[in-house]
Amino acid sequence: MSEIIKRIVVMNSKGGCGKTTIATNLASCYARHGYDTALLDCDPQESSMHWLRSRDKNLPGIYGVIAHKSATLNKNKCWHLRLPIGTQRVIIDTPAGLRETDLLENLQNIDEVVIPVLPSPIDIHSTADFIRDLLILGKLRRKEIRINIITNKVKANTIAFQSLCRFLNTLKIPVIAQIKDTQNYVHATEKGLGIHEVNKKTLLEDKILWDGILKHLES
Ligand SMILES: Nc1ncnc2c1ncn2[C@@H]1O[C@H](COP(=O)(O)OP(=O)(O)OP(=O)(O)O)[C@@H](O)[C@H]1O
Ligand SMILES: [Mg+2]
Repeated sequence: MSEIIKRIVVMNSKGGCGKTTIATNLASCYARHGYDTALLDCDPQESSMHWLRSRDKNLPGIYGVIAHKSATLNKNKCWHLRLPIGTQRVIIDTPAGLRETDLLENLQNIDEVVIPVLPSPIDIHSTADFIRDLLILGKLRRKEIRINIITNKVKANTIAFQSLCRFLNTLKIPVIAQIKDTQNYVHATEKGLGIHEVNKKTLLEDKILWDGILKHLES
């Protein structure tokens, strides 16, 4: 296992596309695989921290950091100085509505960007604008930071999903996973669990999917 710290930010300026769901699942997946994992919440709504507080103490531990501006007025703004020594993976949840100036700030010291996108015309439109803003930033153009897309709340064989696939094909950015639209994510999030921590035989496919996402991010 790599001792080098890796920082993964989950972002899309579009609200409700699954940033928190993906950030919390990534954190629990890394923790389960034995990585010392921290989850940073840059969203004033603190949904990721709420998930972490609901988490059973017997589950693999995740170190939570509240990192949004209103909570860090009197604290060290360099969040990486607030991580425990030995942290190997940092997952960062971000708020909706990030603008160009926020993007630069949120991409400092980042290794991977994960962009969730939903199969709907409105989401495709705003994600296209968001990705354009991201690509304009130098580091991404020079490929120092990898961008990965995850399609979320997918209902296969729908026209909306086919439109999303056509749009993504034009981007030449890897789509690393398709997450199904299922209430299992809603229920798991409520209990502070990752999907692979839910004890249900029917979730084997989803667990394999998350292992695949990790494998990709570690490749
Ligand atoms: N694959 C999925 N299947 C079903 N429901 C999902 C799925 N992914 C996310 N959801 C639900 O969709 C809603 C929005 O997801 P989430 O909170 O992760 O989005 P977000 O991008 O973090 O939102 P915000 O922009 O408000 O921070 C939540 O109720 C969540 O439980
Ligand atoms: Mg959120």
